[in-house]
Amino acid sequence: MTPESSIFVAGHRGLVGSAITRHLRSKGFQNLILRERRELDLRQQGAVNEFFSSVRPQYVFLAAAKVGGILANVSCPALFLYDNLAIQTNVIDAAFRSGCSKLLFLGSSCIYPKHAPQPIEEDSLLTGPLEPTNEWYAVAKIAGLKMAQAYRRQYGFNAISVMPTNLYGPGDNFSLTSSHVLPALLRKFHEAKLHGVGAVEIWGTGRPRREFLHVDDLADACLYLMLRYNDERALNVGWGVDLSIRELAEKMGRIVGFTGRLRFDSSKPDGTPRKLLDTTRLTALGWAPKFDLETGIRSTYDWFRENQ
Ligand SMILES: NC(=O)c1ccc[n+]([C@@H]2O[C@H](COP(=O)([O-])OP(=O)(O)OC[C@H]3O[C@@H](n4cnc5c(N)ncnc54)[C@H](OP(=O)(O)O)[C@@H]3O)[C@@H](O)[C@H]2O)c1
Repeated sequence: MTPESSIFVAGHRGLVGSAITRHLRSKGFQNLILRERRELDLRQQGAVNEFFSSVRPQYVFLAAAKVGGILANVSCPALFLYDNLAIQTNVIDAAFRSGCSKLLFLGSSCIYPKHAPQPIEEDSLLTGPLEPTNEWYAVAKIAGLKMAQAYRRQYGFNAISVMPTNLYGPGDNFSLTSSHVLPALLRKFHEAKLHGVGAVEIWGTGRPRREFLHVDDLADACLYLMLRYNDERALNVGWGVDLSIRELAEKMGRIVGFTGRLRFDSSKPDGTPRKLLDTTRLTALGWAPKFDLETGIRSTYDWFRENQ
């Protein structure tokens, strides 16, 4: 990949796609091909084929997907399954057929089995039952990963996959109904502080443990791997340390300046008890994250206040 290469970032307005776009620009890659969903709905096979056969991008970062937290997954199983299957099937196939040199597919740590041994190794995939609250999304994403592998095996198409842990950062979705835990908590604390509310309610027991990676670190890892990794095995991309949701909430409350109480609603689902990725293989390739959690959350909070 050279600074002149044509690079399609699918989903460039999302959390991951916007970070990849920023990162590519900052590294001198200027020939970026970007399409909003209203210009190119990636679920539409005919439109996707037409786009690839006329534009012929040389490299593709596939960061377009239907993404959301537990509530969104539980309420819209059909959308999570259909949209993700359609987007990834259309894009991977059209990229291969139009002669694309390489494609990077975004998987997710949510697609590992619910009770995978921790930290989760890449080989845990498909070794046990999925977390029921996001199985629709997980089934679709596993199919995407397998599709990338199958196109490499059958056609020699250079498709690679990464498995990021939970992400956060500028450009995140801060909606209270469809966001992930970290942005949802940031917004709840911010609003509680503004309105002088004495307690913030948090879904679940606060005991599940999670790992969080700044999205700019993920973007850096994606470019790193696009430039030097060519293997069918998906690679975990994580931060290396996890903490409980209670610890996260306490840290975020301090950062936001919320001084009230935390109220855990244990009638709501906890999701997977623990989720920490084993990043031995990525580390061995020479990549490591740069953001510490405190700095990352502070900069995300600054972004939220400027852009909410
Ligand atoms: N966020 C995380 O914590 C996390 C963790 C692990 C893995 N990942 C993976 O990273 C990838 C990107 O996630 P994200 O968090 O960046 O999601 P996001 O912020 O919701 O962004 C998704 C992007 O996909 C676009 N998109 C959705 N449906 C589309 C369609 N039919 N046609 C064209 N574009 C479409 C969206 O466009 P609009 O803006 O127009 O809706 C948006 O730009 C996903 O594959 C996800 O599995 C994310």
